[in-house]
Amino acid sequence: MKVSAHAVARMLGTWQEGPGPAHQRLSDRLRLLVLDGRLPLGSALPGERDLAAALSTSRTTVGAAYRTLVEQGYLATRARARATVRLPDEPPPARKSVAGPSAIDLSFAAPPAPVEILHSAFATALEQLPRHFERHGYDRYGIAELREAVAGWYRRRSLPTAPDHILITNGAQHALALLARTLLSPRDRVLIDHPTYPHAISTFTEARARLLAVALTPSGWDTAQLQEAARDANLAYLIPDFHNPTGLCMPTSTRAGLRLACPTIVDETMTDLALEGAAPEPFALHMPTAISVGSVSKSIWGGLRIGWIRATPSLLERVQQTRHATDLGTPVVEQLATAVLLNEHRTRRPGTLRRLRSQRDALCEALAEHLPEVRTRRPDGGFTLWATFPEPISSRLAAIAPDHGVTVAAGPRFGIGGAFERNIRLPYTLPPGRLTEAVDRLARARRALARGATGTHTPAPVA
Ligand SMILES: Cc1ncc(COP(=O)(O)O)c(C=O)c1O
Repeated sequence: MKVSAHAVARMLGTWQEGPGPAHQRLSDRLRLLVLDGRLPLGSALPGERDLAAALSTSRTTVGAAYRTLVEQGYLATRARARATVRLPDEPPPARKSVAGPSAIDLSFAAPPAPVEILHSAFATALEQLPRHFERHGYDRYGIAELREAVAGWYRRRSLPTAPDHILITNGAQHALALLARTLLSPRDRVLIDHPTYPHAISTFTEARARLLAVALTPSGWDTAQLQEAARDANLAYLIPDFHNPTGLCMPTSTRAGLRLACPTIVDETMTDLALEGAAPEPFALHMPTAISVGSVSKSIWGGLRIGWIRATPSLLERVQQTRHATDLGTPVVEQLATAVLLNEHRTRRPGTLRRLRSQRDALCEALAEHLPEVRTRRPDGGFTLWATFPEPISSRLAAIAPDHGVTVAAGPRFGIGGAFERNIRLPYTLPPGRLTEAVDRLARARRALARGATGTHTPAPVA
């Protein structure tokens, strides 16, 4: 795949800023784009002259940056051909963490397992399992008990739902992949919030769709812009409830007024994580045609790998027909255990929400103390806070932070075209003491960056 000079320039964003010579800044930023997967392996970079013109810099600078990347093993060159992206044969030598061996992982926004309720739900599930032994166990819609339990979860939230409106999946991510395969053709346009959940971006990109990014404003969604963009889109994907990564929640008045001209997927995986007040209303109460995606990964535990789609039976019929290409159903014991947990209303546990609230507040306080220049908005729910630095340092900070004992997800992973270089996402799923320590380590990493240090760590997986 050839990547144009303008596409590379867009991804590089504000590479000119920062310490050190220009060719080094350029090679550092290009290397981060490779490590982050934004410049895919095997892709052919533009020629030196074209890139220099697109970046308004000298050909010497681009040539020196390319040579450094060849020496480091990130570019392969052949005579009369474009340089192609590769990875070094040997991974970079692991550097000793100055903060000691116990690195703090802030790249995952996921809760620890609620051990006791899981044990008891699985004990009940095992008792119920024999009644499934008479059947073959392959069920592309999910077992009846869980479809009814999920429908009940919607009905308790005032949205009439029958079990045949529910298809069980292996998590919300699987639901998105199935919907993308069912609803999209190559070159279709998908409207997304910007920023948004990174694996949704990969799902739609892999379906060879084009993304129409609608910026979230500091206070949330811009109805007019969404409606305008939806006129050109084949599909919309929104995260209205405690949006990942910003934590924003779409106000009822916006939901009530929103009219989108294309099929709309709403990802409601964070619904049960309201930290102030009641959980938001189901989006489909206001937009009955909405295709809702849900999951217990955030409200109970990601290891269950249970999610679902709520849609019309005719759409679910199409979805289950595409399913056999990748999987033939969801494990029965996990479904039974999840049905028990949903029927016992375990997705909104007061103790868990109380703990999350104090963790969120501890993270905000630690940021105010150790990184006072960072701007944030205290979220009313979900797991994540979106932090904004005064300068575009996010990818470089994420690459150096593990040297100081902490891993973070850089802002550009949540967007397209190299946006969000001033942001990082910080989850508050760890105890307050660990969060304070993590922010202190991050502040040390930031000071090291300011002194001109660079990091070589590959980006951690995110969720
Ligand atoms: C907005 C959003 N959607 C979907 C997922 C994937 O959830 P699951 O673990 O159910 O696949 C996540 C996980 O981080 C998420 O944040």
